[in-house]
Amino acid sequence: MTLLVLHGPNLNLLGTREPRVYGTVRLDDITKQLEADAADLDVVLEHFQSNHEGVLIDRLHKAAADGVAGVVVNPAAYTHTSIGLRDAFAATGLPFVEVHLSNVHARETFRHTSLLAALAVGQVLGFGAASYRLGLQGLVSALRS
Ligand code: DQA
Repeated sequence: MTLLVLHGPNLNLLGTREPRVYGTVRLDDITKQLEADAADLDVVLEHFQSNHEGVLIDRLHKAAADGVAGVVVNPAAYTHTSIGLRDAFAATGLPFVEVHLSNVHARETFRHTSLLAALAVGQVLGFGAASYRLGLQGLVSALRS
């Protein structure tokens, strides 16, 4: 089973970006950890990050066309703004888990709304980089059940 790990805007800066909020882990570290988890779970991962909404949407279309089974996504700021990204998940029908490093509900009110959450298999948030690992486990478990 192949899954896509999709990262939205500014997540390329993890490690130096607001470390008090996001910690010091870098995107490469998250990718390496997920690759180790994927080997244990016997799944194949593809990884993609973009700062551009349309590029993320195009990547989802490609994933669906390629037969990818599901997506672990941190939509970052687009969580709260992007009807386009939500519609791309609806259009492709790709099952996904939404993850966030921070507990968005403990932050500014504009972060309390997710335009994607209602379509998600589930959400994991507030566990730092472990949110991705838990999200991957949850998605694989849901797809296998
Ligand atoms: C984030 C939370 C979002 O509100 C924010 O815009 C991000 C990162 C997180 O992982 O905690 O860029 O998705």
